[in-house]
Amino acid sequence: MIEFDHVSKVYANGTVGLDDVTLTIQDGEFVAIIGRSGAGKSTLLRTVNRMHQITSGKLTVNGTDVSALSGKRLRKFRRGIGMVFQSFNLVTRTSVIKNVLSACVPDMPFWRVLLGAFRKEDKIKALESLEKVGILDKAYVRADQLSGGQQQRVALARTLTQDPRIILADEPVAALDPVTARQVMQDFVRINQEMGISILLNIHHVELALEYADRIIGIRSGRIVYDGPSANVDQAVLDTIYADETPAEEAV
Ligand SMILES: Nc1ncnc2c1ncn2[C@@H]1O[C@H](COP(=O)(O)OP(=O)(O)OP(=O)(O)O)[C@@H](O)[C@H]1O
Ligand SMILES: [Mg+2]
Repeated sequence: MIEFDHVSKVYANGTVGLDDVTLTIQDGEFVAIIGRSGAGKSTLLRTVNRMHQITSGKLTVNGTDVSALSGKRLRKFRRGIGMVFQSFNLVTRTSVIKNVLSACVPDMPFWRVLLGAFRKEDKIKALESLEKVGILDKAYVRADQLSGGQQQRVALARTLTQDPRIILADEPVAALDPVTARQVMQDFVRINQEMGISILLNIHHVELALEYADRIIGIRSGRIVYDGPSANVDQAVLDTIYADETPAEEAV
């Protein structure tokens, strides 16, 4: 469970990223965060695994006060939360399986990493993860020989090896064509439904958000302006989320 209790985030330069956000995400939910560019979607997502530190309020993840974590406990906490980005972040010159196994590296003695001596159980887990996202046949292919959609699936498989209870995805389908984007969204749905992993993702494509997520959080200037079922999002809601912030006298 993720609980934001009057959370704000003000960046060092004074920019307000989040403004008094209060919301609860239950285990197993599939939530899409929508809003204009600069609204605070990435900020919201990245506070959950403490890539960004909140500046006021309280953020609790599975009962843990996120702000209070440091050192070893923070690293362990982060490993329980998967993260997927728009740009896949793979090591493209090496094989798919090594990319997936790289998620095991923090637990491994350094000599094993150098030798590429991964444990058998880690290899099995990596192959199982690839199977879950439907690209087991690509395990020994170099990552740069895969399409964008396949590369995003490798990134997903890599996070699955961490046994996350939550996956955060920052614009995971933004770089993909419409057909591939849908396939990757379906992967998220399957992971959510079959493995019970909570999915929290930022997305610019409203149609995809409404089609695949159960719940929509609409954010504008760091504030939550809609939070409810996808089915209840109508034009009026979208107008509220995407309202033009430009003052009337400047809008020519
Ligand atoms: N590291 C930072 N330092 C200062 N300001 C930042 C930083 N990161 C983000 N911001 C600002 O915080 C606000 C929210 O940014 P954020 O990246 O969360 O928006 P977003 O909704 O993800 O936008 P996009 O759709 O373009 O990715 C913006 O005004 C942005 O300029
Ligand atoms: Mg963003």
